[in-house]
Amino acid sequence: MTLPRTPSFRLDGRRALVAGASSGIGLGAAVALAEQGADVVLAARGAAALAAVVDDMRAAGFRASALALDVTDIDATAAAVAEHGPFDVLVNSAGLARHSPATATTPADYDAVMGVNVRAAYFLAQAVARGLIAAGKPGSIITISSQMGHVGGIDRAVYAATKHAVEGMTKSMAIEWGQHGIRVNTLCPTFIRTPLAEQTLKIPERKAWILSKIKLGRVGEVEDIMGAVAFLASDAAALITGAALLVDGGWTAD
Ligand SMILES: NC(=O)c1ccc[n+]([C@@H]2O[C@H](COP(=O)([O-])OP(=O)(O)OC[C@H]3O[C@@H](n4cnc5c(N)ncnc54)[C@H](OP(=O)(O)O)[C@@H]3O)[C@@H](O)[C@H]2O)c1
Repeated sequence: MTLPRTPSFRLDGRRALVAGASSGIGLGAAVALAEQGADVVLAARGAAALAAVVDDMRAAGFRASALALDVTDIDATAAAVAEHGPFDVLVNSAGLARHSPATATTPADYDAVMGVNVRAAYFLAQAVARGLIAAGKPGSIITISSQMGHVGGIDRAVYAATKHAVEGMTKSMAIEWGQHGIRVNTLCPTFIRTPLAEQTLKIPERKAWILSKIKLGRVGEVEDIMGAVAFLASDAAALITGAALLVDGGWTAD
């Protein structure tokens, strides 16, 4: 009898773009993809931080290069993707949070968070998909959403709105691009210890709220998302599209 075999988790020969790769979840995603053999282009605005990460990755034996890019500049992003692509894998982890009570949200904060988390994410996915379709290649597009793409949270009306928007855009893109073999999914973490989450974790009552909601009883670490990124990027996830992979320690289970 011929036994079924697990499709490969390896990414040898694949080119990946990780936006928001100089810190936190994006950095973890870049390393996770490189560990599976991908050639990774790391993008963020800050060139110095990016260069330091790329140096460390190369020193560790990974294939990595830096691309200084502000993803809110839609034209520059499309041009960079056209120049350096096509990318078999996109992980978009460029994100922003400006938390406040909904009664205190300013239009400037609303526009800034929507501009990065939704508008830039939308057009970056579009640019990568256009490149893949033009090249006749399949691909995997992963947007870092959040558990807040599925539930609401204290002081998070705008942030949760952006993440719910990302979930809708992902499902619709998955419907359109499935015919091209392009899979489109979100990865939805709970609180992960990064510079972005630190603004919340340092407030004792918020930390208590967080720990009361995470059934596994701890805040996430960057390593907690790495296997999920590699999985969604790989052939092991070949039939998964339009999906949200929750890495939330059970936050949304009730
Ligand atoms: N940490 C959490 O608890 C958590 C939980 C759920 C979801 N998420 C989501 O995960 C994503 C990453 O969060 P994180 O915690 O890893 O944040 P982080 O540590 O602050 O890293 C954000 C990264 O995005 C880059 N970035 C920000 N704005 C950009 C822009 N306009 N163009 C290009 N790059 C940009 C930053 O570099 P530059 O500033 O140099 O550009 C940095 O590399 C976000 O979408 C966030 O909403 C985070």
